[in-house]
Amino acid sequence: VSSFADDINLWKKSTLNQILQRGELQVCLEPGYMPFEMKDKRGRIIGYDVDMAKRMAKEMGVKLSLKPTAWDGIIAALVTGKCDIIMSGMTITQQRNLKINFADPYVVVGQTIMMKKELQGKIKSAKDLDKPEYTVVTKLGVTGEVATRKFFKNAKIITFETEADAASEVLNGKADAIVYDQPYNILFMSDKGKGRLVHLDTPLTYEPLGWAIRKGDPDFLNWLNNFLRQVKEDKVVDFYNKLNQKWLKD
Ligand code: ARG
Repeated sequence: VSSFADDINLWKKSTLNQILQRGELQVCLEPGYMPFEMKDKRGRIIGYDVDMAKRMAKEMGVKLSLKPTAWDGIIAALVTGKCDIIMSGMTITQQRNLKINFADPYVVVGQTIMMKKELQGKIKSAKDLDKPEYTVVTKLGVTGEVATRKFFKNAKIITFETEADAASEVLNGKADAIVYDQPYNILFMSDKGKGRLVHLDTPLTYEPLGWAIRKGDPDFLNWLNNFLRQVKEDKVVDFYNKLNQKWLKD
C-alpha cells in the first residue's frame, strides 16, 4: 500500500526534481541525424530535437545543457546519470523499452532505401535488392540495422559508425544502397544525393520516436507526456506545427 510518505520519497528521487534543484536540464543526443540534431557551420548543435529541448527547459524554468554522446553509449549514459533524458530521434522499440522508459511519440518515421541512380527502374523494392550481387549499408546499432538484417538475407550488409559514412559509401559507388530513417534520406536527397541517388520512399517499418528516461520515474514521465500534449495540441501558440514546418516541411 502506497502512502503519502512514499509519494514524497518518489518525488525527491525523481529526475524532474533533480532538474529543478540543479536549475539545468541535461539532454543526451548524437549530432549527425539530420534534421533532428546536426552541427551548423559554426559547430553548434541545431535541429528539431534541440528546439524541442529548448522549449522543454523554458517550461521547466531551467537552463539547457546539451550532452553530445555517441549512439552506441547513449542508453548507458542515460542509465548511469550522465544526462536526464535522451532526445535524439530515438525509435521506441520493445527491446530498448526493456531497459528504459519512453514518453509518448513526438513524430513517426520509418526506414527507407536510397540507392545508386543506375539501379533506377531495375530495383523497385527491398526484395529486388536482396541479391548476393548487391551491398546494402546502414549505421551500427540503429533501427536501420535491425531493418537491414530483417529485409536483406542475401545481399551483403556493411555497417558504419555514422550515417554520413554509410551514405558516402553509396555516393562514391562502393555500396548499392543505404537503409536509414526517412527524414534523413529526404534531406540527403535534397542536397548531396540530388541527381546521384534514387529514393524508394515507401517506409519499410513503423517507427515512433520518443524521449527516453530512466525507469521507475512516474513524476518525470507524467510531466513529459503532459508537456508533449500541450505543445502538440495548443493551436494558439502553434509550436508543434511551426517546428514540423521548419525542420520536416510537411
Ligand atoms: N531512429 C533511429 C533509431 O532509433 C536512428 C536514430 C539516430 N539518432 C541519432 N541522433 N543519431 O535507431
